[in-house]
Amino acid sequence: MIFGKTIVITGAASGIGQRTAELAADLGADVYAVDMNAPATPVGHFLQADLSTQEGVSALAQALPARLDALCNVAGLSGQSGAVPTLSVNFYGLRALSQLLAPKLREGGAVVNVASIAGFGWRANLDRAKALVDVPGFPDVAEVVAENDVKDEEGYPVSKELLVLWTLRAAHEARFKDRGIRVNAVSPGPVETPILEQFREVLGDARVNSDIERVGRAGTSQDIAPTILFLCSDAARWINGANIPVDGGLEASVSAEVLGF
Ligand SMILES: NC(=O)c1ccc[n+]([C@@H]2O[C@H](COP(=O)([O-])OP(=O)(O)OC[C@H]3O[C@@H](n4cnc5c(N)ncnc54)[C@H](O)[C@@H]3O)[C@@H](O)[C@H]2O)c1
Repeated sequence: MIFGKTIVITGAASGIGQRTAELAADLGADVYAVDMNAPATPVGHFLQADLSTQEGVSALAQALPARLDALCNVAGLSGQSGAVPTLSVNFYGLRALSQLLAPKLREGGAVVNVASIAGFGWRANLDRAKALVDVPGFPDVAEVVAENDVKDEEGYPVSKELLVLWTLRAAHEARFKDRGIRVNAVSPGPVETPILEQFREVLGDARVNSDIERVGRAGTSQDIAPTILFLCSDAARWINGANIPVDGGLEASVSAEVLGF
């Protein structure tokens, strides 16, 4: 399915990104593993990059090979460090990297964004999401956060709402669409990785425990990685602009509650 493909995976030093990199390599892909931290057990080619700044994103784009099959945007922050770094890494840096790499992606290639059930509110908060997605390029994120009054505790859910909205739009952005590059998202529920402990601090134990209880257990990185790689593969050739929940049924449960069915 992905044998022989050249796949860039960000956030590859830990959790979901690390597992995605390992599985991709096991399945015969040529993996470019990107992270700000060096992985304990390197897979493929490791490239150190800080995706929170335009400089970091540009340097990475230059260092990557000229021809790529897929980009998996997995790197992310929990929101614990505040709205500015969180929006920088989880949305503006991710979008800047995807747009910069578009010319290197082959026709029929793929971009896969790891969003979250935390982005569920994008429709309810559409005006805010549109305003923040409409800010072009890699802006001065501190200015954007101040102008739009994004509170630190909202940084994580807002970043994922923007990512889901942009995924749907990007599927129809000429730079991707005209060359048959599909753009999709995967939205996990709670997953046992180092970030989950930070979510407990940001969201509170009650919220995290209730999400886990709704579906019986937390996910693992092994539960998420196969869907990310499926979306990179040609088997997903007719899936575009989709946001696929991989959460044991959590989104269905939240939808039932919010929509009242
Ligand atoms: N674990 C969960 O419960 C959960 C749930 C829903 C969505 N997600 C999303 O899944 C993705 C992966 O998270 P995870 O659970 O594997 O967490 P993790 O903390 O294990 O991994 C995140 C990785 O991103 C890297 N990273 C952070 N900032 C970076 C930067 N500026 N430049 C480069 N790399 C950077 C970190 O070094 C780390 O290796 C994130 O986008 C997260 O929001 C996680």
